[in-house]
Amino acid sequence: IAGTVRPRGTPWWRGQRAHLLQLAEAGTPRYVYHLPTVRARARALAAIKPIDQRYYAIKANSHPAILETLEAEGFGLECVSHGELKHVFSVLPGLSPKRVLFTPSFCPREEFEAAFALGVTVTVDNVEALQRWPDLFRNRELWLRVDLGRGEGHHAKVRTGGKESKFGLPMARVDEFVQVATDLGSHVVGLHAHLGSGVETAQHWRLMCDELAGFARRIGSVQTIDIGGGMPIPYSEEDEPFDLEAWAEGLAEVKAVHPAFRLAIEPGRYLVAESGVLLTRTTQVVEKDGVRRVGLDAGMNTLIRPALYDAWHDIENLSRLGGYSEAVFDVVGPICESSDVFGKRRKLPASTAPDDVMLVADAGAYGYVMASTYNQRALPREDVIE
Ligand code: LLP
Repeated sequence: IAGTVRPRGTPWWRGQRAHLLQLAEAGTPRYVYHLPTVRARARALAAIKPIDQRYYAIKANSHPAILETLEAEGFGLECVSHGELKHVFSVLPGLSPKRVLFTPSFCPREEFEAAFALGVTVTVDNVEALQRWPDLFRNRELWLRVDLGRGEGHHAKVRTGGKESKFGLPMARVDEFVQVATDLGSHVVGLHAHLGSGVETAQHWRLMCDELAGFARRIGSVQTIDIGGGMPIPYSEEDEPFDLEAWAEGLAEVKAVHPAFRLAIEPGRYLVAESGVLLTRTTQVVEKDGVRRVGLDAGMNTLIRPALYDAWHDIENLSRLGGYSEAVFDVVGPICESSDVFGKRRKLPASTAPDDVMLVADAGAYGYVMASTYNQRALPREDVIE
């Protein structure tokens, strides 16, 4: 309801304008990550008592400084490919494999082999993998990813549960999975679910945890329940900041009922989204049929979230902050696709002109990691602010 929305708080970059403008001089497009913000989010999660193990889903942002920061804050790392596994062990050479999860989807045999060889915790989400490669899955301690029958999240493309989703073992096949694993001399020691990304209701995790605990009891060998990631951040003025207290209270309630299990989480976005901005320079300002467009040197190849999910990112003209008259612009990139639009009908300084430095906010998660060289454009650069 309008007027009751809790404010988002001032973003870190408001106080760093001169520094960011200086960084932009070294070339754009450029992602900049603010490590104190990453640490603050990490500590907010670390303070939540019912959670026993925290992992960071590195797919959100695998910059070495971010991995180092989160590892130092006590986070383990969740990886989804052999590439991500190799990356974490090369960035953090002393990392214990006990602190690494491998949660692949339809991956080839070689990736399972590599994960077992490294000694990380392996999550499986189908019976067929065990049946196809029994030699690989013999005498293992496995985690099982289940599909609780529903998906949630900020867009249909990021919901990872339910019939139309490729992820997770349907609950109806859990007994079968346990039987096949047992026949191989293996045990299900972790039970995992992640139903989507950018889920706004804090109750979602409480319900999930409760359902998983029920199944874990039935399986018998489960020690850890992993309730995934998926916590949202407020991308726009209308978004409520995530209610971390309500979230923690819900988890504490479930933990009180099921004290036997260790509780794990594996967020990505929540930890890093707000720490990152994308700096980009305006190329041209063009008016066509009554629509004024400002072009950027960043495009959907740099940050694909608006094109792929209609995602909102605040956009500011860093060269002209404050005290200006506003005009309405569509903000577009240089890629030859109609979806190459960062925002439609955005209010920006009326004086916005070529060579201004623009800032695209909350770009620390699923930004650089999803960038491509489409149209033979270069990958963006990255900087960190310690
Ligand atoms: N665990 C698993 C098994 C996942 O698949 C994911 C994300 C996470 C954890 C971390 O989710 P998070 O806390 O970041 O919501 N590119 C999309 C998001 C895709 C998420 C994929 N899986 C976006 O930009 O919104």
